[in-house]
Amino acid sequence: MKNIDTVAQMILESKCSFAFTGAGISLESGIPTFRGKAGLWNRYNPNILDIDYFYNNPKDAWEGIKEIFYDYWNKAMPNKAHYLLADMEKNNLLNGIITQNIDNLHQKAGNKEVYEFHGTLNTLHCVECMKKYDAKDVSEKLPFRCDECGGLVKPDFVFFGEGIPELAYQKSIEAASKADLFIVIGTTGEVMPACSIPVLAKRNGAKIIEINPEKSTFTDTITDVYIKGKAAEVAEKLYELNLLKEIW
Ligand code: OAD
Repeated sequence: MKNIDTVAQMILESKCSFAFTGAGISLESGIPTFRGKAGLWNRYNPNILDIDYFYNNPKDAWEGIKEIFYDYWNKAMPNKAHYLLADMEKNNLLNGIITQNIDNLHQKAGNKEVYEFHGTLNTLHCVECMKKYDAKDVSEKLPFRCDECGGLVKPDFVFFGEGIPELAYQKSIEAASKADLFIVIGTTGEVMPACSIPVLAKRNGAKIIEINPEKSTFTDTITDVYIKGKAAEVAEKLYELNLLKEIW
């Protein structure tokens, strides 16, 4: 695989590295991406994740949300790429992960330092009384309403039209200011402000490694070393390299 040795060397030499991940890293865990031929937006109306649409059409929005996120995604397991990042963190080869994903698979794999830029599907809250709920509480009767006050219950992930969770945003900016290496995996880089984070890292002197079977908005602009490939397959190759095996 082209560039794999270079990437392993860059990881070993880095003093402060972060991964920046998108939907592509979870594809091999059975979770569909948003864009592209088999992407969710070819099957669902993206409006169901628009905050105004959600409040105005809660039943319709919740039917899509439950089908996409709660009937299926929550059961997915991490793949080799998630485990590679967890092993890297355990062995001090990775400082943390900034993820646009809401699927919790980095934490399931064992990563501790994870900044969820778009929130999480694991928890929800009532928009009226703020009562907290877990993913397992999602009701069959839709829309999901609070059992205390009857208010609408909303997942704690970021809808279109909502702000980024403050702590995740601050931590991501901090990471982009101090990193000497960013490993960008499985994202088109089309969604703002998430896509500004690797650009900021580059501007602050980080080298950018990118892993993606298709070029993204980053590839010909900020990427230093591009590996064209699927995340889990590239991870497998990195596991096979003696260079990294010495540490693991
Ligand atoms: P997209 O669905 O836009 O892009 C998926 C990316 O993964 C593409 O660049 C693919 O080429 C790449 N890809 C596909 N298969 C892959 C594989 N096996 N290994 C590695 N990469 C692969 O997903 P994101 O860029 O993450 O926001 O989308 C960003 C945001 O848009 C999401 O967080 C979501 C969505 O609207 C919110 O929900 C707020």
